Amino acid sequence: MTGGRIIGWGTALPDKVLTNGDLSVMMDTNDEWITERTGIKRRHIGGSTASLSIESAQRAIDMSGVDPASIDGLVLSTTTPDRTVPATSATVQNALGLRCGAFDVNAACSGFVYAYVVAHGLLAIGAKRLLVIGTDTLSRITDWSDRGTAILFADGSGACVVDAVSEGGQLLGWDLDADGSLEHLLYADVGGYIHMDGKEVFRRAVRIMVDSAHKSLAKAGLSVDDVSLCVPHQANVRIIEAACRQLSLPMDRTAVVLQETGNTSSASIPLALFDAANNGRLSDGDIVLMVGFGAGMTAASAVIEWRAT
Ligand code: COA
Repeated sequence: MTGGRIIGWGTALPDKVLTNGDLSVMMDTNDEWITERTGIKRRHIGGSTASLSIESAQRAIDMSGVDPASIDGLVLSTTTPDRTVPATSATVQNALGLRCGAFDVNAACSGFVYAYVVAHGLLAIGAKRLLVIGTDTLSRITDWSDRGTAILFADGSGACVVDAVSEGGQLLGWDLDADGSLEHLLYADVGGYIHMDGKEVFRRAVRIMVDSAHKSLAKAGLSVDDVSLCVPHQANVRIIEAACRQLSLPMDRTAVVLQETGNTSSASIPLALFDAANNGRLSDGDIVLMVGFGAGMTAASAVIEWRAT
């Protein structure tokens, strides 16, 4: 069966940085509390979902060296589209000079893994080259007077070009999950702010990440010991530590960038994955486990064999 391979990637973060110290001027909080409870030190705020997507995707296209006209599908994961209609992917498609199908995927913070898996479905039925983007601008739906959520959420984008390959496809196992009965734990109405039951989300997040990771690894015929790098959703370092403990995965085999980014939802996993790649933490043949969770409550994981050359 036709598989896929990432041949170029890019990321984008807004210029404006908001530190924990900045937040403590805006609301009743402090650096010590935020650092200890979440691991986050600063986050980037600004831009639109389209502008950040265009920036990260242009970098991915430049790195891959492909002609934009050869891209035959764009999948944009976002839970913060710029408009209700049209899909933000249409704006991005036009700005990048693409002439292909383009659509948004919304699976909240699990979205990038959903989009990456969906892209493989398109490759399996004949697509040759896809652009997969994960972008969110959560600052636009954050209540900046609510210290329970404002300390967590931020903006960013990550993108990659995925080529069809008849042999050596890098996706070895995947799992997509959702439990809509839990939507009350984390939601934002159209035009409204994020509401969250932080404690309950925390508790369930650990469980569903671990469960999803085991399912993907089983499908790939691999174990935790085979994983060179785990790339979890960057929500809270304590969630990541608890999940890694339950998976028996040491933290030195885990990618963490949330101290710099906060929770950027769809962008979180690509920001951490491509940071690892850019910093020499990935070699050809490495087994990478991406695992996310989010509102819905969704969970998603994918086991890939990294191959950049
Ligand atoms: N600064 C200072 N104090 C704060 C605070 C803040 N930003 N937010 C809450 N507090 C206070 C609370 O009022 C409470 O005080 P009390 O003991 O006097 O009542 C105390 O700190 C503990 O609050 P609690 O809500 O129990 O903290 P927590 O350890 O559960 O941490 C979260 C809160 C939000 C950081 C944590 O629950 C979390 O990260 N949950 C998961 C959220 C998530 O990942 N969402 C996205 C999913 S994609």
